[in-house]
Parts: sequence; C-alpha cells; structure tokens
Amino acid sequence: MREIDGGDTPVARRFWEIGRDAEAAYRAYDFFVPWATAKIVLSKGRTDTDLLLLGAFDGQQMIGAASVAMPLLDNLHLAYVSVHVHPEHQRHGIGRALAGACEVAVRQRGRRVAVGESYGRPGSRGVGQHFAESLGYAVALEDGIKVVDLDATEPTWAAMEQEVAPRSAGYTLVGWYDAVPPEHVAGYCRISEAFNDEAPSGDLELEAEAWDEDRVRTREAENLSAGRHDVSTAAIARDGTMVGLTEIGINENASHRGFQSGTLVLPDHRGRALGLAMKVANQRSLRTRFPECTVLMTGNAGVNVAMNAVNERLGYRLVETCVELQKEL
Ligand SMILES: CC(C)(COP(=O)(O)OP(=O)(O)OC[C@H]1O[C@@H](n2cnc3c(N)ncnc32)[C@H](O)[C@@H]1OP(=O)(O)O)[C@@H](O)C(=O)NCCC(=O)NCCS
Repeated sequence: MREIDGGDTPVARRFWEIGRDAEAAYRAYDFFVPWATAKIVLSKGRTDTDLLLLGAFDGQQMIGAASVAMPLLDNLHLAYVSVHVHPEHQRHGIGRALAGACEVAVRQRGRRVAVGESYGRPGSRGVGQHFAESLGYAVALEDGIKVVDLDATEPTWAAMEQEVAPRSAGYTLVGWYDAVPPEHVAGYCRISEAFNDEAPSGDLELEAEAWDEDRVRTREAENLSAGRHDVSTAAIARDGTMVGLTEIGINENASHRGFQSGTLVLPDHRGRALGLAMKVANQRSLRTRFPECTVLMTGNAGVNVAMNAVNERLGYRLVETCVELQKEL
C-alpha cells in the first residue's frame, strides 16, 4: 500500500482502469470519467482540492485504488474518500486496508469527517454500503439516481414551455456555455453559496461553500483544460438579480451523455415553475451545442419533493440509489 504519483502516466492509467472495471461490474450506466480527463486531473490535481492517491499492490501490479479529496476553499473538516478494488481481487481485505490508509491520511491532515458514496439497485444495499458500514460509516443521505432519454422526451418540451411561460412571467431566462457572463458572476456566486443550505443534505456535515470571481474563473479554466463543459441557465428577476440556476456538465470526450448537476431557486421565488422552466431551457441549450448528447443523469434526495416532481415531468426514471456515508474520525 503506498501513495502513488498521478503524474506517472502508466501508474495513473492503471489507477483509472481499476475504478472503471470495479464500477462497470455494478453500475446501471457507464458515467465513469473518460481517461483523457482523468489523466489531466490525476496529474495536475485541482486548485480547489487537495488530492491524495493510494494504490494497493500485489508485487508490481496495482490491484486496488483509493483517493482522498480534501476541499481547500471551504468545508475544511471534510475528506471525500473513494475506494475501488479490481473485481478479480475483491473480498480479500484489500478494500479494508486501503480505507484504513485513507483514514490515517485524513487524520494526519487534521480533517475530522470522512465521506464516501455507494451505488446500488433501488431498494437494496449496494456492495459499497456493506463495505462502508463494516468500517463504521453511517448513512447520511440517500439520493435517487435518475436518467432521462433526450431523444424520446424532446417532443414533450414545447408543451411544458407553454405551460410554464405564464407562471414564470416577470423573470428572464439567461443561458450560457462555460464562462459565466461578467454581469452575472456576483449572482452566480450568491446562488452557489446558498446551495448547500438549501438542497437537502440529510445528516451530512456540509457547510456553505465560499465563492468569488477568482474561484469561478479558476474552475472554468480547469474544467476546459480537462475537456469539461458547463451548460447553464439562470432565472433573472425584474430588478436584475439572479434567483435561480441550473447546470449540466458534459465532457467532450464522452459527449453522448451529460450530468444534470445543481438546480436551485431561491426561497422567495419558488412556486412559479422556474425550476421546470430553467431545466427545459437548459436541455434545449444543451442540444443546440451538443446534439449528440442523448442521455442525462442526475441525483437528488428522496425527500426533495419539488425537485422530484420537476424531474418526473421531464421524464427522468430511477435507475439506482446513491447512499452517502459519513464517519467522524
Ligand atoms: C467496496 C469495495 C472497495 C470492497 O473492496 P474489497 O477489497 O472486496 O473489500 P474487503 O475484502 O476489504 O471487505 C471488507 C468488508 O466489507 C464488507 N464487504 C465487502 N464486499 C462485500 C460484499 N460483496 N457483500 C457484503 N459485504 C461486503 C464485508 O463486511 C467485508 O468484511 P469480511 O470480508 O470480513 O466479511 C469493492 O467491492 C469495490 O471496489 N466496489 C466498487 C466501488 C465502491 O463501491 N467503493 C466503496 C465506496 S467508496
């Protein structure tokens, strides 16, 4: 078991393959990060995260791969731990040993809370959950993982647009690709900071994030250099303030699929169909720039009634459950 150098390409490639093969064995859809992006992230890291990589070796061959990602700009008590063991080497205690080494590293860096996630079929405990619970992690949040087929559902968008237009009158929808327009950076930061307080996070010990223009621009540059793009739509009130935002992440190395990430409408502006209006507009925007994208995946808490209702209208269907697990060290 040792720390590995993500800048050593053959080592990084094996690290990535272990994750890919372990996930292929049990995930409902292939949403694993493409190698072209992983190569960049593993070698260069990210300025907003301290990333530690650990490999478990049998002689010269790596058979287990773990990462510890520690946010640097906020949530300094947290460490996101991910453990993968190659399918041919599971149930021999390698995962447990890797997770133990991760915990040592997390403690050494003064972080108090380790967080991991596990995927499984809806209604059943996934292998990762069995594993994490055996190590003393406790379930903190359960998300439904859903997908929508864009080819099949696009014909339904026009009717939804007509339906939401009168309810969301008084707001303007603004869309962009990648770079947040300068006039919207302040609003974008305000919404991003509100996100962790507003979206259900169960027992996860999440603090609000801290955003400023520097963070926005650095993230945009790092995303682009790794082949990642953002498709975004915001709702702007009459006085010019941003009151809602939705974002889709799409990777140019796997652009047949996208990930619908955060959607938020600020509390005073809810009940006017802005969530649905923004998401439909953003899906149209996605198809304009990336017509080859035919499937979107998203995850949201089972208790999030409003977001679940919007996703149901859009045709999302449940394919997996993601359990976020937490351990106080
Ligand atoms: C989860 C994973 C890392 C476990 O790796 P592993 O080397 O097989 O795990 P270990 O042999 O160290 O198992 C440790 C304990 O976890 C539990 N466990 C592991 N696999 C299990 C399974 N298939 N079913 C039930 N419990 C399991 C058991 O309690 C086990 O102890 P035991 O063997 O004494 O009963 C591996 O299955 C994997 O890569 N899965 C995909 C990625 C993932 O879900 N990672 C976890 C979240 S970060």
